[in-house]
Amino acid sequence: MPAIAEVGVFAVDPTAPDPLAAPALAGLDEFYRRHGFVVLRGLYPAEFLDRLERECGEAQQAVLAGTVSERYGSTQYLDARYLDRAGQPSATAPSERASNGTTHGSADVEAYVNYVEHVEELSPAVREAATHPLMVELLRRLLGADVWMSPSENAGVVYQDARPGRESGYSRIGWHSDWQAMPSLDVWPGSAFTLHVDATSPANGFLRVVPGSHRWATPAPYRNINNVAVPADARPSGGYTDAEPPYEMPLGFEKIPGEIAVYAERGDLLLHDAYLWHSAARATENATTRRHVRAGYYSGDPASYRDQFIKNAAR
Ligand SMILES: [Fe+2]
Repeated sequence: MPAIAEVGVFAVDPTAPDPLAAPALAGLDEFYRRHGFVVLRGLYPAEFLDRLERECGEAQQAVLAGTVSERYGSTQYLDARYLDRAGQPSATAPSERASNGTTHGSADVEAYVNYVEHVEELSPAVREAATHPLMVELLRRLLGADVWMSPSENAGVVYQDARPGRESGYSRIGWHSDWQAMPSLDVWPGSAFTLHVDATSPANGFLRVVPGSHRWATPAPYRNINNVAVPADARPSGGYTDAEPPYEMPLGFEKIPGEIAVYAERGDLLLHDAYLWHSAARATENATTRRHVRAGYYSGDPASYRDQFIKNAAR
């Protein structure tokens, strides 16, 4: 019987002659196809992770200080209540600019940067990680030979620093599938990679997934908690089969029958399908961070890619 803990975790030895052919990875493809995610452990050496962490921290500081272009900052993923507190995105001088391009406003909110977009342009380590040959080979196996990454001129790779403190505009996210954010595009199927800088736990927050939900025909988010309009050209549903989901996707953070927690160690690489239902639980300890870098890989038509972001998930 497989162990209950750390289900879906596959250890890889990148120094082996043919790492992806190792017996330890024998069940990986089947696990992904059946459950919609896998965690690859051991791909990155400790020194590499230290460098990536340092470079991402420097990029984050540069956004906060306004010493890099505003295009590296982002407000689109933040909790709307934070944006209301902190004021609207500002076109003022960088010195007056606070977190993620927002101004301080009248509320006593400290400046903070939860996101750096296109971070691969600022961090060579992120660029290396995002194009790691073993990861790309594995994605080809799982999605098809012609996989390609979210283009740099669009979001590219995103550095995310989730934390629960008052200064933070991002601490958690409600149920969604990544497909629902771009339902008009023909870039699917796809998969997101998440390289964990911090190990995850109930203390600093963690991923919740519904194994097998990538196989359901999940509707576009016509009904969503943010009352965001879904465009008329959205595909009605996204998933690997025509099977109707056994439950409606909850609008917030409700318990779903069959959901599990996926905990990660520092350096773990999570691959999850873009059709998979997932959410992220908020930290229970205040002085914690949950940092990672992530991007989307796609196997559909690159020519159909454009900026679309239906912000349907609860924050
Ligand atoms: Fe997501």
